[in-house]
Amino acid sequence: MQLKIVKGTRDLYDDEVSRFQFLEEKAKDVFKLYGFKEIRTPIMEKTELFTKGVGEDTDIVGKEMYQLEDRRGQSLVLRPEGTAPVVRHVITNNLMAKNRQLRYYYMGPMFRFERPQKGRYRQFHQIGAEFFGVPTADADLEMFLLLRQYFKEINLTDVSFQLNSIGCNHEDCRPTFKKELVEFLESHEDRLCENCLRRTKSNPLRVLDCKVPLCIEVTEEAPKIYEHICGECDDHFEELKELLALHDVQYELNAKLVRGLDYYTRTVFEVYSANLGAQSAAGGGGRYDGLFDLLGAEPVSSIGFALGLDRLAMLTELPETESHGVFVLGHDRKAVSQLVALCRESGQVTHFDPSQASMKSQFRQANKLDVKYVLVLGEKEIESGQVTVKNMLTSEQSTVNIKDVKSFI
Ligand code: HAM
Repeated sequence: MQLKIVKGTRDLYDDEVSRFQFLEEKAKDVFKLYGFKEIRTPIMEKTELFTKGVGEDTDIVGKEMYQLEDRRGQSLVLRPEGTAPVVRHVITNNLMAKNRQLRYYYMGPMFRFERPQKGRYRQFHQIGAEFFGVPTADADLEMFLLLRQYFKEINLTDVSFQLNSIGCNHEDCRPTFKKELVEFLESHEDRLCENCLRRTKSNPLRVLDCKVPLCIEVTEEAPKIYEHICGECDDHFEELKELLALHDVQYELNAKLVRGLDYYTRTVFEVYSANLGAQSAAGGGGRYDGLFDLLGAEPVSSIGFALGLDRLAMLTELPETESHGVFVLGHDRKAVSQLVALCRESGQVTHFDPSQASMKSQFRQANKLDVKYVLVLGEKEIESGQVTVKNMLTSEQSTVNIKDVKSFI
């Protein structure tokens, strides 16, 4: 048997776990400030949720889903993203009949069969938020303000927002733009890659997203979608830009930002960091006023985003933590176990080594763990009912009665 980890997955441990915990804790704090409640949806969903919700012609559904059949022949997937599951929850529990607005956030693993590389995994982790029930740009603004505050809390300074509006599905909006785009693309067919030629027919907006240098050059000249959206979408976009200016939120307009999921309408945005290398998108999101409808429910105005936790962790420097906790050192297992229990009852993070290692070796372990106090229980101490307490920060040493240890540390 080969004991190898599954390609594209990884164990999170040591500092990486500390970084994840730091990012998750800060996110919880900030989400709370903005009135979001946590939701935990299952990791498995029915395949249909994503084929209908995210779209058959997207990379996620077409190429990347971890699909399986259970013992009853039911087709399931490991969730590739978190938005459709949250929307499923809202629909199946008829929550919009009971609430005018809803705000949910989630954190957890997502699964996509992508080519693994630095910052791109097959099991990765997202922190996401979804806001339901507000059609105006105020909701869009909330997302930007929340994200800006979160980045500040986690000391991330090198991130930037990119913004676009991809309009709606009304005849005189995105569909009209698509026709114009297709005309443009067809007039440059000779310079487009195979994939883009195919997409010109199936999903022309995605051509704007192609990473092949020649295609990028061609689409630089392509018509800009935000200049071709309908009046109502344009009003929404203008209002959002005004609100962002009011709050001094910096962003860059990017007419080629179309996102890889089919459910978006109007506002789309991404968060980039130059320090991430090739996989530079730290997060993305947008408005998806049509998703409820796609899933067979009454339409609900919705907006949300997801951040890639694995990528944020690459950018995170943990704040310096003070040494804390104690290490109980000694060879008398009973006496050591009693003192350890006493320390833990008093709320101290407490370490010890029950292996009877030499005092020197135990001391080395205490140093490695960066504890604040070392409590030495030698023969002399046990006889006198005392313990030697060494403050590792000041090197001060004192002898304390065991019963007073609690108050001393
Ligand atoms: P997404 O752009 O597909 O959007 O993913 C959001 C973020 O997840 C990306 O910007 C990236 O940081 C991270 N990510 C995606 N795939 C991987 C991967 N294979 N490895 C590491 N990180 C990855 C969504 O998923 C939408 N559900 C966001 C949303 C919420 N839109 C509205 N509400």
